[in-house]
Amino acid sequence: MQASVRNRRKSTAFGHVYRQTKCAALGIAKFVEAAESLIPGDLGSGDMALRLKRTSQKIDMSYEAVRKDYAKHTLEESDCLSDPIDMLDHWLKEALIEMEDANAMTLTTVSPEGYPESRVVLIRQLDQEGLVFYTNYESAKGKDIASNPKVGVNFFWPWLERQVRVRGTAERISAEASDAYFKSRPRESQLGAWASIQSAKMTARNQLDKQLLECTERFKDQDVPRPPHWGGFRIKPQYFEFWQGRTSRLHDRIKYESVDGGWKLSRLFP
Ligand SMILES: Cc1cc2nc3c(=O)[nH]c(=O)nc-3n(C[C@H](O)[C@H](O)[C@H](O)COP(=O)(O)O)c2cc1C
Repeated sequence: MQASVRNRRKSTAFGHVYRQTKCAALGIAKFVEAAESLIPGDLGSGDMALRLKRTSQKIDMSYEAVRKDYAKHTLEESDCLSDPIDMLDHWLKEALIEMEDANAMTLTTVSPEGYPESRVVLIRQLDQEGLVFYTNYESAKGKDIASNPKVGVNFFWPWLERQVRVRGTAERISAEASDAYFKSRPRESQLGAWASIQSAKMTARNQLDKQLLECTERFKDQDVPRPPHWGGFRIKPQYFEFWQGRTSRLHDRIKYESVDGGWKLSRLFP
């Protein structure tokens, strides 16, 4: 590595950008390389869009043969902070330093029919009160939470070989707090929150384009207010599990349970 690059990596801010860019570039390069070996001669340009259109082509791959060993880190009790929120905050920041979208979490709700339903949302705040994400209150997840506030959350950071599971109950944050976050969003996202009837059936893509145009016209030359059906949920956690991949599937698992206003930490078999 060149001395100039080595020196610049010592600067934290630059180090983050450098690593993110490098990882993103490596990820794409590896992806295209793997795909090229599966569909020889098809991907010379490395053009992702072109490749992704070719879904009619069968890819001969056995999932059983895909194997990797996890050996990057360990998780000792002595590494664990006494408060699991601080621990999650630390792991989340370590993950975000390395890769964008590390703040994406899989949120599981339970439908009124009793089916668990999972989808990805972005964590926007994390503090002693809990984990906050924003959404449309009238979406499928919003309705699920209204009928059953018990939710699950999962983070998976493959580049750190780490997973975190959280269980808790979700509740709406205050209108003022939702307003404050909504104001910080780009105008296009604010308009999108008005235009999209999230989770409702649409006839064609241009229905969304049309509704977006209408909203753009409606709020022309003025600030876009927060739609009443859009805002934040806070998940108040009762349970955490921190998973660190280890060799031969002998992983580390540490759980935290809420007991008498504190946290009880114990180790689980992998
Ligand atoms: C990386 C990523 C981030 C997302 N972030 C959010 C989010 O913060 N809020 C949200 O409502 N949907 C988000 N989505 C879309 C949801 O996964 C989902 O499609 C949408 O909320 C509708 O879900 P529902 O029909 O179960 O309510 C995100 C999707 C991805 C892949």
